[in-house]
Amino acid sequence: MATEDHGVLISLEDYERAAERSMDAGAHGYAYGGAGDEITLRDNLASWRRLAIRPRMLVGVGTRDWSVTLLGARRPHPLIIAPMAFQRLAHRDGELATAEAAAATGSVMCLSTLATTGAAELAQAVPNSSRWFQLYVFTDRGVSRELVAQAVEHGYEALVLTVDLPAFGVRERDLRSRVRSASAEMVASAVAAGASGAMSPADFAALIDPDLNWSDLERFAAESPLPVIVKGILTPEDAELAVEHGARAIVVSNHGGRQLDTVLSGADALPPIADAVGDRVDVFVDGGIRRGTDVLKALALGARAVMIGRPVLWGLAVDGAAGATRVLEILLGELDLALALSGAGSAEKLDHGFVCPAHWVAHGR
Ligand SMILES: Cc1cc2nc3c(=O)[nH]c(=O)nc-3n(C[C@H](O)[C@H](O)[C@H](O)COP(=O)(O)O)c2cc1C
Repeated sequence: MATEDHGVLISLEDYERAAERSMDAGAHGYAYGGAGDEITLRDNLASWRRLAIRPRMLVGVGTRDWSVTLLGARRPHPLIIAPMAFQRLAHRDGELATAEAAAATGSVMCLSTLATTGAAELAQAVPNSSRWFQLYVFTDRGVSRELVAQAVEHGYEALVLTVDLPAFGVRERDLRSRVRSASAEMVASAVAAGASGAMSPADFAALIDPDLNWSDLERFAAESPLPVIVKGILTPEDAELAVEHGARAIVVSNHGGRQLDTVLSGADALPPIADAVGDRVDVFVDGGIRRGTDVLKALALGARAVMIGRPVLWGLAVDGAAGATRVLEILLGELDLALALSGAGSAEKLDHGFVCPAHWVAHGR
């Protein structure tokens, strides 16, 4: 695809570079950056590249099947748009454009609690997108209850409870740029929780309850009319607890390397978690997925689907809904080719036999 300003954009990395040129430096640093020395951020990408694919031949791959079952429903493919706060910092159309990209590609979109578009407005503007609602539980539980009620009323199909942000990871890029992620007024949930004026990302995070615990999850899951997905699990011990306390699915995630630096990557955390929970709940993974081959490896290691974060923002920043759509289409095209050339043919046929440790040195390209 050729766009006027950015030349030919054929990979997610092309969009990443183009987005850096399109975005204000503070907003770009907020979206791009990770916590501390950004070791986990870099390892999120490198860990998929430490895996090699073991392809099988002569199996007949003329008809490929990308479809998967998520929370009991058939979906056309395994891509979910990760919840990301403040999308109007990337493009004026923000979450509405992301929802259009979700609808255009049959992806599930997960709307953040800290979205710059309300849950009701998004559902009314793009009614045909599949949507989940990501919940940060605020210290003011009444506001969180109201957010859940809105999600239920407006056709969100699941609640994604993010559990890896009891405190805010130190992102040095943001401290240096002094980015103000948004005025509180852009984020309706924050206003409801009592915020006002210019806010840094850390100011928004201070609204979140640091004392959330497993019994809260149990109560919440028991009372919730929607299935509850727990996002931010990195150990089989916690995966087991999440299942015991009512989670219907787990997202293996380190929050895109933005919380505790030097925690393990999703790719490294996934296999023991998938083994521990088996078929009891769906397991999803995110962090550093930039190629169709990364998606294939995630499914082979036991994920049912993957969440895609930053690349969607890069598409959004470059060309609004069309850019975010194109990013997802590129990834789906690459997944299709990977399914053909690996001999898997279908997303649901992937298993551990399709991957092994790679013996090359993973360059951080
Ligand atoms: C700019 C930005 C904002 C984010 N905001 C949220 C959020 O509001 N809630 C949440 O659960 N995760 C949030 N995340 C984490 C993503 O949901 C996801 O876990 C991560 O971005 C996946 O890694 P990737 O960006 O390498 O694909 C955010 C990530 C980014 C990059």
